[in-house]
Amino acid sequence: MRSSESARADSLTITRPDDGHVHLRDGTLLAAVLPHTARQFARAIIMPNLQPPVTTTEQALAYRQRILRALPEAAEFEPLMTLYLTDHTPPEEIRHARASGIVHAIKLYPAGATTHSDAGVTELSKCMKTFEAMQEIGLPLLVHGEVTDPSIDLFDREKVFIDQVLHPLRRAFPGLKVVLEHITTQEAAEYVRDAEAAPNALGATITAHHLLYNRNAIFQGGIRPHYYCLPILKREPHRHALVRAATSGNPRFFLGTDSAPHPREAKERARGCAGCYTALHALELYAQAFDAVGALDRLERFASVYGAAFYGLPRNTGAVTLRRGTWTLPDQIPVPAAQTSICPLGAGETIAWRLEHFSVRLHKERVRRQYE
Ligand code: NCD
Ligand code: ZN
Repeated sequence: MRSSESARADSLTITRPDDGHVHLRDGTLLAAVLPHTARQFARAIIMPNLQPPVTTTEQALAYRQRILRALPEAAEFEPLMTLYLTDHTPPEEIRHARASGIVHAIKLYPAGATTHSDAGVTELSKCMKTFEAMQEIGLPLLVHGEVTDPSIDLFDREKVFIDQVLHPLRRAFPGLKVVLEHITTQEAAEYVRDAEAAPNALGATITAHHLLYNRNAIFQGGIRPHYYCLPILKREPHRHALVRAATSGNPRFFLGTDSAPHPREAKERARGCAGCYTALHALELYAQAFDAVGALDRLERFASVYGAAFYGLPRNTGAVTLRRGTWTLPDQIPVPAAQTSICPLGAGETIAWRLEHFSVRLHKERVRRQYE
């Protein structure tokens, strides 16, 4: 059954989707999480916040090779690399990155805003020549949109960032392609919806967890570190605004999981790390969020069409099928090589959709038969 047939369909077949924002890490953690992302998505924009960060095209090429080597045998998955912007990224690096053909965006972390952002930008004024180069050659800037001023309330940091940083930046560089990442507030959704921008010049990614949960989830019956991410979950009206944006059919809004794995003990401690792990069940979570408002027929565009269009990439050829059917999420995903485990978001809870898993070749065969 194709997605357009019914908003209450029991199965949904969509073009293989892209993840517009994911953390794959490196080494043993990479090996543990990559099969999940590669099963769910055909391509993904890979975050560069390794330690040390991926700041040069050479490092991005090497990281890409490590990802390709860690892929399961039958997987068909393309990592879309990014560079980590610093105070000292030279404009020549931007040209070099573009010429490589494997770097698709530059990531701006305000220094100190989130996990592994210490090497990020301390003042935007240090990056003007670099932004000029990006604007000129059309390499998008991906923005972690939160101010870092400790006197600003944590729950207001995205809104303040839009007013104080993002809007002035976009006025200074009207041709710069910008993605406001993992938006969490009504203000962000409205800004992206209403801002004047050339076609394909402004976008926003939305995570599954920000569509499904509000900030109560972090405190329900005790503090729950696996629901702690940055930008932090907000109040219910903000969640509603994000659901409206994601299901609106506006091509500026597209899928980005921000799946951010951390070893269990790094989250369950006095100063637990920020990041929710959703790569295992991302599409199921998105299906749940879209289904809850009767908008399953909008999922394919959000997941498989608008992100590719923003990046000027062809649409993927295979398909995936989601079926309605309850299953229970594992409590944890063992990572024996690192003597740890990762807790998926919603561990131990049931979920109402299941992604059917068959090889990409079989996907193609099925899709071919479906249209014959
Ligand atoms: C991310 C991580 O762990 O790398 N954490 C998170 O809470 N989202 C960093 C980020 O994207 O902010
Ligand atoms: Zn992220």
